[in-house]
Amino acid sequence: MANPGDNQAEEAGKPSVDEYFKVPSEVFQIGDRLDSDVFFYHQRQYVLFKSRGQTWSVDDGQRLATTGVAELFCRFKSPKEHHEFLHRKLRSIISHPTIPTEKKAKVLYETSGPILTTVYSTPNSGELMQSASNYVKRCIQYLNDRGSIAELFKLSGESLTEHTHALHVSAYSVALGKRVGVNDQTQVYALGLGALLHDIGKSRIDPAILSKPGELDDDEWQLVRQHPEMGEQILYHRDIVPVLSRRIVLEHHERVNGKGYPKGIKSQHHFSRIVAIADCFNTLTSVRPYAKAMTPFDALKFMVQTMRAEFDGELLESFIDMLSN
Ligand SMILES: [Fe+2]
Ligand SMILES: [Fe+2]
Repeated sequence: MANPGDNQAEEAGKPSVDEYFKVPSEVFQIGDRLDSDVFFYHQRQYVLFKSRGQTWSVDDGQRLATTGVAELFCRFKSPKEHHEFLHRKLRSIISHPTIPTEKKAKVLYETSGPILTTVYSTPNSGELMQSASNYVKRCIQYLNDRGSIAELFKLSGESLTEHTHALHVSAYSVALGKRVGVNDQTQVYALGLGALLHDIGKSRIDPAILSKPGELDDDEWQLVRQHPEMGEQILYHRDIVPVLSRRIVLEHHERVNGKGYPKGIKSQHHFSRIVAIADCFNTLTSVRPYAKAMTPFDALKFMVQTMRAEFDGELLESFIDMLSN
């Protein structure tokens, strides 16, 4: 029996028969009629929790809480089918007018794992890139709710995983973009998708280097500094990814004082400057292998006092205003 979730990252895009995939319990709403069997994993096997056709009830949520079951699974024929299921759930929850923003934030956060982990580990799959595109659309829709950034922000601070980092950077970037007047939906989408995929080039770097607790040596650092270009190359033939999103991926470590990488330019796109701020802030406020998480206040203070020359001053002020309100 495979370990839970193992099959998600493997053979992405290839059809298989009834494999088990992670499904966050938050996607099941009270009153939902289940369209597939739901399992949990116990003593090296999948155990049926609830059958297809049954209705999700209050008791089910309580039963999960009291038994300490953290993860649920459903069977699908392929990663594509799994993602389609998650997107159906995500769409109905995010667009629901009476579901509280807090709950929507939790669902967006919990689905970032199963959706974005496979996108980041299998970036050459067109189907999974479509999934990233759908996810950004839900993220943009979620941000129409009042207080959405604050609710999402409450879910940060944990260790810096690629999927939660991608979600936060995308959400902060879209919110900051809208705050400084980016209203055209095509532009908002390009910004959100570029931010979501900004570190996709890291999928080509040895995870041991990325999670190294100490200082990187020169060779390792040279390799890590290539991730913006690697990311741009990965996305080059993906029609679903706008040219502007690719530019963001390439430029998100460039700095306005020309001291960034890979090229050390000062002429980076406005959106790349937005993502640079969101990326830095989420990195500083998350637990990293080599550092503790800063409080939001300390992170912003550090960015203003120590890194100010690296960022667009007006954007940084707008970002601080946005997080203070
Ligand atoms: Fe990066
Ligand atoms: Fe990043």
